[in-house]
Order: sequence, then structure tokens, then C-alpha cells
Amino acid sequence: MLERLERLPIDSILGLMALYRADTDPRKVDLGVGVYRDDQGHTPILSCVRRAEQAVLGRQTTKSYVAAAGNAGFNQAMAQLVLGEGHPVLAADRVRSIQATGGCGALRLGAELFRAAQPETVVHVSTPTWANHVPLLSGCGLKLERYPYYDPATGGVKFDAMLGTLDRLPARSVVLLHASCHNPTGADLSETQWRELLDLFKRRSLLPFIDIAYQGLGTGLAEDAFGIRLFCAELPEVAVAVSCSKNFGLYRERTGCLHVISESPTAGDATLSHQVRIARSIYSMPPDHGAAIVHEILGDPGYREQWMEELAGMRKRITGLRHELVKHLARACPQRDFGFIAGQRGMFSFLGVDVPQVRALREQHHVYMTDDSRINIAGLSADNIEYFARAVAQVLRN
Ligand code: LMR
Repeated sequence: MLERLERLPIDSILGLMALYRADTDPRKVDLGVGVYRDDQGHTPILSCVRRAEQAVLGRQTTKSYVAAAGNAGFNQAMAQLVLGEGHPVLAADRVRSIQATGGCGALRLGAELFRAAQPETVVHVSTPTWANHVPLLSGCGLKLERYPYYDPATGGVKFDAMLGTLDRLPARSVVLLHASCHNPTGADLSETQWRELLDLFKRRSLLPFIDIAYQGLGTGLAEDAFGIRLFCAELPEVAVAVSCSKNFGLYRERTGCLHVISESPTAGDATLSHQVRIARSIYSMPPDHGAAIVHEILGDPGYREQWMEELAGMRKRITGLRHELVKHLARACPQRDFGFIAGQRGMFSFLGVDVPQVRALREQHHVYMTDDSRINIAGLSADNIEYFARAVAQVLRN
């Protein structure tokens, strides 16, 4: 039976990781996979994570199961982190949360929930969106469609075109939005645009599914969740997929959660029963370790303070690199304007070069990025930024 299977091409981001590892050139620059890196090119374990982890392990007395919905304290702390303490939907008991295997697990649980509620649901994703959104959301059988989003001419959002498309969707369409630090473009919605979008969602009865994987790495913890807080306050139903991979640096611990805001506590309880049933049917129960660490950090004022400082450090490094990169590129390639990179947010930007140029950067200069020219800004450092800018100048000349 299995002989019938044909070999699949490797995932673009995972394939790039393997190519980078195999490259032995000391000048190689990894701007591929979206993990934070420090000045030395390391993806560090945050100090608050180390301390909280020791505390958690020191107290642990069993490895028995927690629950299908995961760590209740973690779920609650994550709802407060994303929504902000005192948010009206928390007070109204309209939020139901389930721990998930990273942001990816949360996205899949959300998609399965929409399928359970309405099998013909169509999910609308931005053009472009993170490559893995497509299999994660459509893998359970939901149909996916696209709405315009990124404008390569300005490095910003094609907002009118986006509104125009969303304004034609039937009621109960699901629209996937990136809360902030849009992956792969770095182009975010402004607060005014979020407000305008809210009017459209109300008018057309659309259901927002908001992916937040970089809270605190764009502008700030509250600012990066602005759209979520606004939509949850004003709409009857919202789903939010949260990842702790990047802002807590817990990548391999697969830590995240799905929050679902329903119209009433009773509807919320029914929704949660489905969330739990779906999780049970896929993997039964989530891993404990990452969620226990995050719960410890958010619940302890000392660890929390340290986390916020470390997060601010990562954010400032990325923002600083954006400005540095624009300066280096302006010197190396004066004929081209890369100024848009400084106005974008989060780890990613499109360099805006074509596939042969991306390949030339990889093959001739050992600089790795995905074929769409997405670069992970955090992969740059004082040691490689000049080399990178010169390499870009060279491929643009050829
Ligand atoms: C990325 O976009 O590179 C990250 O979210 C890592 C991944 O799994 O693709």
C-alpha cells in the first residue's frame, strides 16, 4: 500500500534549514527560519525561562497527565496576557481556552472547531501568508481562499483592496488575520485600519481568526495585541491562536493555546467541549513543560519583570537592526530604496528580489532566505550586516 506514495518536496522553510546546516562556508548567513538570534547568532534560553524551569522542576512530584485542555493556570494567564487584564470578555466569562502544541496546534484546533460548527466554512488568508498556514488550516478539509494584503510597491498593506475583497464575503466566513509582525511581510495594520476593519466584520458578520505569534516583538505587549483586544471587545465571536515559541523562546517545547470568545458563557462551554474532544481525537493531551514554565513566569512578579525586560531587549535589537540594515543597503545599493524595512515590524521583511537573485545569494554568497525573499532580520548582526548588504548589491548588479 505505501509503495503508492510519491516522495514529496521538503517544506520550504525546513528545507532551507537543512541546506544552511550543510553549508561549511564560514561566511554563511542564516536569514531563513524565523527564530530569534542574538548578536552571536545564538537562539538563547531566556534567563527567566531558566529560573522558572528550575523552580517548576524542583516542585514537580509526578509526570501523570494534566488534562485534555492542558494547564488551567497557563490558559488563564495567557488569556490575560493577550486580552489585557480586566478585558470585558474576561469579566463576562466569554473566553474558553485550551492549551495547544504551539501556535501551529492552536491554528489546527481552531480550523477543526470551525469544521465541526460549519463543515462548509471557507477560511480567507492574506496574500501572502506564512506558508504553513495553508496546510494547517486546509488539512482538516476546510476550503482556503485569499484576500489581497501586501503591496510590494510601498512595503505596506493594500488596505483598500483588502477591504474590497472582504466586503464581498458571505456571512460566517472565517478571516485569518495576523495580530502583528505579519509573517512573511512585516507589514502590519495601523490602529485606524483595525478600527475600519472592525466595522466591516460587524457589517458582514465575519468571524476573525487571529494569529498572534510575536506578541511583544513588534512595538510592545499591548500594542501588538491591539487588534485582538478591539475585536474581542466588539464582536460576538473571535478565535485567537497564540504561540509562546518566539516571545518566550520556547520553540521546541511546543507551547501555545487557542482562545475562543463566544457570545455567552453557555455557548462558550459548548465550544470548549468541542475543543477538548478535537484535541483528544488528535493527540489526547498536550505536553506540560513549556506551559508550566510560562505559567510560572507570568504568575511570579520577579520572573515576569525579567521576562518583560528580556522581551524588550529582543524587540529593541530587531528594531535597531532594521534601521542598521536600511543604512547599509542605502550605502551598498543607492539606486534602490529599502527604507520600507525600517517601518515594518517583527522578525520578517521581504527583500523584494526575484527567485534567481535569491538563489544567487545562496549559491554565490552563502546567504539563506526563502525563495519569496523573506529575510529573518534577527539573523543579521554586526558581524554579517555589511557582508549581506554587499552581497545584495552584487546580485542586483548582475
Ligand atoms: C517561520 O516562519 O520561519 C517560523 O514560524 C518557523 C516555522 O515553523 O516555519
